[in-house]
Formats: sequence, C-alpha cells, structure tokens
Amino acid sequence: MSIIENITKLKKELNAVIIAHNYQLPEVQDIADHLGDSLELSRMSAAFNEKIIVFCGVKFMAETAKILSPNKTVLLPEISAGCDMAQMTEPWKLEEMKNKYPDAKVVTYVNTTAEIKAMSDICCTSANAVEVVKSMRSNRIIFVPDRNLASYVQRFTDKEIIPYDGYCYVHDQFTIEDIEKARSKHPDSVVFLHPESPKEVADIADFILSTGGMIRQAKETNKDIIVGTENEMVYRLKREYPNKNFYPLKENPPAICTNMKKITINSVLKALENQQYSINIDDEIAEKAFNAINAMLKI
Ligand code: 13P
Ligand code: SF4
Repeated sequence: MSIIENITKLKKELNAVIIAHNYQLPEVQDIADHLGDSLELSRMSAAFNEKIIVFCGVKFMAETAKILSPNKTVLLPEISAGCDMAQMTEPWKLEEMKNKYPDAKVVTYVNTTAEIKAMSDICCTSANAVEVVKSMRSNRIIFVPDRNLASYVQRFTDKEIIPYDGYCYVHDQFTIEDIEKARSKHPDSVVFLHPESPKEVADIADFILSTGGMIRQAKETNKDIIVGTENEMVYRLKREYPNKNFYPLKENPPAICTNMKKITINSVLKALENQQYSINIDDEIAEKAFNAINAMLKI
C-alpha cells in the first residue's frame, strides 16, 4: 500500500481530519482535507466533527486548535515545528509593558505561545488585525509580537499602538529592491504582500493581504501576480487558479519558513500510526488563552 493509501485508510479508521496551512509542502497540501490561513484554520478546527485533528502547520497553530477543541486530540506531526516569531515573545517583557501602560489593552497576534495569549485581552491574525484593534475600547494598544503588522495596523487607526519588537525572518527580509526587480521582470503584474513585511516595502506593494486574502484577491486579478510571502504560497495559488501566472517575490535565495517544511507525508503517516505528537496545554493557561481567542472569533 502506498503512503497516501495508508493515510487515507488510517484517517477513516481513526475518524481524523487533516488540515494544512498554505505554506505547507506541496505533497502535504495535496493530502490535506482542508487548507487555510491562520484564521480560517482556527475557525475550522472549532467546527469539526472528527475526533482527531492532524494539524500540518507550526506549533502555535496546533495549540490554537487544541484550545478551541479541548476534547479533541490535536496532533502536530513534527513536534519541533515552531514559529520563530512566536518564540520571540517573553512573558516577563510583556508583563513589563503591561505595567508601564496600565491603561492599554493587549492585542496579540496568534503567532504566539499559549502562555502569551493567556496574558492578552484579545488575539488577532493578519486577516483581521485592523478590525480587532478598531474594536477595542482603549485608545492605547500594546501589540504583540510583530512590529511590522503593528505598523501596518497603525495606518488605519488613530489609537496609539505600542509594538513589541518581534518580527518574522521570512517576511522581514523583503526589500524595496526585491519589488523593483520583480516588477521589471514581470511588467504586467501586481504585487501581493503579507503584512509581516517591513513598512517601506508595504508602502509600494499593490495589496497587503493575509494568505487567505491572497487567494480571494487573486480571483479578482487579471494581471500576473508577484507573491510577497513564503514561497510555497505560489503552489497554493496555482492549485486554485491553474490558468493564472504567479511568481515568488524572492527567488534567490527563496523566502522559506524552515519550520513549515518539517512536515512531510511520511510524518503525517507516522502521526496517524502513533497518534503523535499530541498537543496538551495547562488548563489554567488554556482557559485564559481561550478567552482571548474567542474574543477575536466573536468579532
Ligand atoms: P496567515 O494567517 O496570513 O496565513 O499567516 C500566518 C503566518 O504564519 C504568516 O507568516
Ligand atoms: Fe512564523 Fe514567519 Fe514561519 Fe509564519 S513564516 S510560521 S510567522 S516564522
């Protein structure tokens, strides 16, 4: 029996569903039951009937799924698949910021550990960060951890945004020259850029979008599309629109999230065979983190 046949058989026997983030390897995207951005995957995981969720993404995403579905088994096929930005936020530093600005509300990007979410008033993703910040009663917002997403949100609000100094190494590397080079190579194109990118680069992009937003916007676009995010997004977009042209913003070296690439169809098979690696979160942290995630889902 092939790996894929084995996965299909075990999935049925165990009553499992496989979900994958848009940056996953093509072989993983192809075996997933559902694909999505962080917000879409969070919403989905709260709604599944299956007992087991195999989460092909990075750890904070699987943790979010577990917090929303505490009675289900959530498996992350590769336990070392973390998010470098999520690891940057230190609880003591956030505590320090909260003490310095006691009137501020804490808006936390989902790319954080459960412990940091538990210290927050509300979560957001790249798809809803502006809406979430606008919805807060306070005029002062501590925004954790992505400084670039914070600066993107600041464009749309008069509230004072106090950013934590975190960033994503995959997106923070994009430069104005990358956009200029890509535009001269593909003159009849538009540039889609993820809001984790630096401000000066975002200033000259055509659209600032979450990965889910890129999929929706591509439907409306008749030009070639330069994709300013993790390079696997090109595969994801081509799956959806095989007749359109997509080009990665950066090819040499490519923009790759190495943690996202740790999951393979082999590790998905092992995850099902051995029920590994099951995500578990301390009850008190999970309860507080749930409140912050749920506040976001209500918006
Ligand atoms: P999206 O929510 O846009 O998919 O982004 C998640 C992420 O990790 C971006 O680096
Ligand atoms: Fe984290 Fe960046 Fe990878 Fe997204 S692309 S999972 S933010 S390191």
